[in-house]
Amino acid sequence: MGVERELLMIPGPTMVSPRVLRALAKPVLSHVSTEFVEAYTEALELQRKLFLTEGTPFMLSGSGTLGMEAAIANLVEKGDRVLCVENGFFGEKWEEIVEAHGGVVDRLRFEWGAPLDLKQVEERLSSNDHKALTVEHVDTSTGIANPLDKVGELARETDALYIVDSVCGIGGMPLRMDEWSIDLCLTGSQKAVGAPPGVSMFCLNEKAWEAVEKRKTPIQDYYANLKRWRPIMENPRGYFATPAVGMVLGMREALRIIHEEGLEARWRRHRVFSDAFKAGLEALNLEQFPAKGSEAHTLSVPRIPEGVSDSDMRGLMRIKYGVIIAGGLGKLGGKTVRVGHMGNVTTNDLVATMSALEMSLMELGHDMEPGAGLGAAEKVLATHRTEA
Ligand SMILES: Cc1ncc(COP(=O)(O)O)c(C=O)c1O
Repeated sequence: MGVERELLMIPGPTMVSPRVLRALAKPVLSHVSTEFVEAYTEALELQRKLFLTEGTPFMLSGSGTLGMEAAIANLVEKGDRVLCVENGFFGEKWEEIVEAHGGVVDRLRFEWGAPLDLKQVEERLSSNDHKALTVEHVDTSTGIANPLDKVGELARETDALYIVDSVCGIGGMPLRMDEWSIDLCLTGSQKAVGAPPGVSMFCLNEKAWEAVEKRKTPIQDYYANLKRWRPIMENPRGYFATPAVGMVLGMREALRIIHEEGLEARWRRHRVFSDAFKAGLEALNLEQFPAKGSEAHTLSVPRIPEGVSDSDMRGLMRIKYGVIIAGGLGKLGGKTVRVGHMGNVTTNDLVATMSALEMSLMELGHDMEPGAGLGAAEKVLATHRTEA
């Protein structure tokens, strides 16, 4: 099996369309050339439309974590209380970032994979003494999706800035930044957006921007200081630090692909793929880790069945069938696997992954009906319209 034909089905980085790869292969441009400035301007506008906001888009070199850091570094001052709503590994990351910037964490922790209890969120917010609250759209460790719209209804009634990490959501699941009262939303390039890792994207609305302007203390970060970057985002001909010119061209192409498909059609495709894959898992007698009804559409997180070893299963899938899936994250290591089905994934990729999973489990002696997973997935795929 040649490495070039492997299927990368982890929950990010995801496989990239040949159109994006061709854009990345272009000769390096000057960062102040008209061609590049036009590409950056278009990419930023397409990003704004992806987030469904009238806010200001930022597209910087870095990973998703840079967006998390920029959010806290710019919006939170020493001693500010931040409500961190957590139900997975990435939700918990916010605590470290907030504390690193002198904020005071008010932790609202739910079991990994359990849905948020909105009553408890409301109760905590009712003190109205939080500068911000942080919520994950999709926690990639557990495969749970959180009801951002409902949290937005609660946040809207307070002064708290509503910060959302949609690294594993946007581009694959509905997200309406303005309608859901999100003040700062962030993502990375390498998941449902469909580009390689390396670009951090986030948008701030006026409320968030006002909080930056009204700070009593200076922003401690230099590179992540958004006051330095805003003029560049408004006119990419300016200079603060050299942008990753190739990646911006790749991002423009990935964002063009998203808007050509259409947001609604893309969300629908992700839902159908997710339904199909999850139906297949069920038919293989695999239990899903996230709570029923709260599963993300961008990935699936089944528990590893009794008697099957994680490394044998993923090893067979990769070596014998050329399909790469991810292991469990953090405390779920060895207990779950994670299959990404987001971005520019196709029906063929999905079917090949289900088939590789099924054959590997069969070889490892798991109790299942051969072909059951594929059959269940096919039923969903064949009866839904997946194209726009
Ligand atoms: C939900 C979520 N948030 C944040 C991150 C961090 O992003 P990055 O690894 O690009 O820094 C990830 C990465 O997988 C993620 O899945």
